[in-house]
Amino acid sequence: MKVAKLWTDLSAGLFRGIDSAVLDDFRAPGGLNRRLAAWDPGEQSLRYFKFLLLHVAQSKPPQFFERYRRLGEVGIGRPVSVAVNGCAINADHLFAVEEAMFLEAAIAPESLRTVVEIGGGFGRTAQALLCLNRHVERYLIVDLPEMLRLSELYLRRALPPALFDKVRFVNALEPREDVNADLVLNIDSFQEMPRETVLQYMRSPIGQARVFYTKNPIGKYEPQSVGIEVRDRTALAEVLSLGLCTDVLDIFDTDALARARAGYLANYLPGPSWRVLADAPMDMFPYLHHALYERVP
Ligand SMILES: C[S@@+](CC[C@H](N)C(=O)[O-])C[C@H]1O[C@@H](n2cnc3c(N)ncnc32)[C@H](O)[C@@H]1O
Repeated sequence: MKVAKLWTDLSAGLFRGIDSAVLDDFRAPGGLNRRLAAWDPGEQSLRYFKFLLLHVAQSKPPQFFERYRRLGEVGIGRPVSVAVNGCAINADHLFAVEEAMFLEAAIAPESLRTVVEIGGGFGRTAQALLCLNRHVERYLIVDLPEMLRLSELYLRRALPPALFDKVRFVNALEPREDVNADLVLNIDSFQEMPRETVLQYMRSPIGQARVFYTKNPIGKYEPQSVGIEVRDRTALAEVLSLGLCTDVLDIFDTDALARARAGYLANYLPGPSWRVLADAPMDMFPYLHHALYERVP
């Protein structure tokens, strides 16, 4: 029988001299099993990310793709993409459409005229909400000056001028006027701010808003649980202290996630005159949670 060179090489190399000691860790990251059933869990390639993206995108309903197409330009900055239903899907815009659809299912689009986003990153959510909801008249992004530089450049290129003109870039480090927003949102960033900063934002602009949306982690996790070796313990201690949800969880344990969600919903409730309008775990990374609160009339 003819054996491929691939396997004569593997037999003579990786699989040579197998004894019972191999059983101790042959399926651990970096072990022999990387050439057998599964790829190496710690391999440095785009493989797992692209499969994860493909897997999540494939599960989306037709309405998702209809909205995704309405975002216009999604390839700025050369993101990793997969092709699903004729759309080049990247993770950033997939998340943005999920966020928009979550909001749309709970609040009437015409009630959202003024939107404030705290910590907008490069501007993916602003792009989605402006492209998908023509009723939005003003979209304020409150962020650090360096990030505003990026979001301004990005959105100027990604949006038609009429939509770009609705965006205001607000320096988080300078005093600002109170805004009565219809919606204030914060995505994946309160957990990177000191508790007192988050509480300041809770007072204003969230305190004056009608509706508040957060999509943040429901807890912290040990870096070792995702295979990250910690070099700087001081930096880790700071990261673990940030935000309002600081309990360390096993984010790959569905029971632990279910237990942590009630605490998250309570921690981000802006005050006693507010209630949860809708909530759901994020699809791809379920340790982040969509939560929408409204002021009780
Ligand atoms: C992980 S990024 C998330 C960006 C974006 N929301 C997203 O999901 O793509 C965190 C964001 O929070 C911003 N940020 C950090 N500290 C901030 C502060 N004190 N006030 C406002 N924004 C802040 C960062 O500049 C960045 O835009």
